[in-house]
Amino acid sequence: MFYSFELEQYLGELLPEREELLKEMESQALQETIPVVTPPVGNFLAFLVKTSQASRILEIGTAIGYSTLWLAQGFEGRKGQITTIDLNVDRARRAIEYFKRAGIEEHVEVLFGDARKIIPTLEGDFDFVFVDAAKGEYLDYLNLVLPRIAPGGMLVVDNVLFRGWVVPGSEFAPKYNRLISHLREFLTNLTRNPDFQTSVLPLGDGVSVSIRKR
Ligand SMILES: C[S@@+](CC[C@H](N)C(=O)[O-])C[C@H]1O[C@@H](n2cnc3c(N)ncnc32)[C@H](O)[C@@H]1O
Repeated sequence: MFYSFELEQYLGELLPEREELLKEMESQALQETIPVVTPPVGNFLAFLVKTSQASRILEIGTAIGYSTLWLAQGFEGRKGQITTIDLNVDRARRAIEYFKRAGIEEHVEVLFGDARKIIPTLEGDFDFVFVDAAKGEYLDYLNLVLPRIAPGGMLVVDNVLFRGWVVPGSEFAPKYNRLISHLREFLTNLTRNPDFQTSVLPLGDGVSVSIRKR
């Protein structure tokens, strides 16, 4: 089994010291059991935004804005815009306060509501999409966002290996049967899509990175 809390903690310790605001958000998330990305995954998001030079980002699943802050770090002073969607109004409002404190509020548009209804109303293509909302809705998000990713653009999805249970032969409680089948179908659809090249990484809870072929 690849999934190891100790491994993730060690990878986190190897990262440079994080700014106070990120650490405050991490402890908030821990206290309230809000499932945010792990620091190594956050660092990887910033890395991907930097290397891809993405400037128009869509995020599905804002929560309190922790991963949004990591995505924005990837701009490194470049012009960039993030549209982030969450149906939990309370969390999204708190995210806005964090964006103000981080000084990135002009670069982030927060939309309240169900991403499945909001995405079709958005204009234009995105060069980077980060998906981290309801795991049982991943196929819906996939169908909505794939046509909206520009050539050379990236799709990054968190929790695709869900505690390692998506790996065939894993043991888990029957109540997760549907969710695990859904994630397996999602990964099959994504990795077999001829328009995208995909790598699935055992980082955090499993992260997929896909790039739209030119
Ligand atoms: C895992 S949390 C996001 C964590 C955040 N990406 C981070 O790492 O800081 C998932 C969020 O998705 C939101 N969500 C779930 N289903 C959604 C939907 N259909 N549309 C928009 N947001 C949704 C939840 O309210 C929750 O805040």
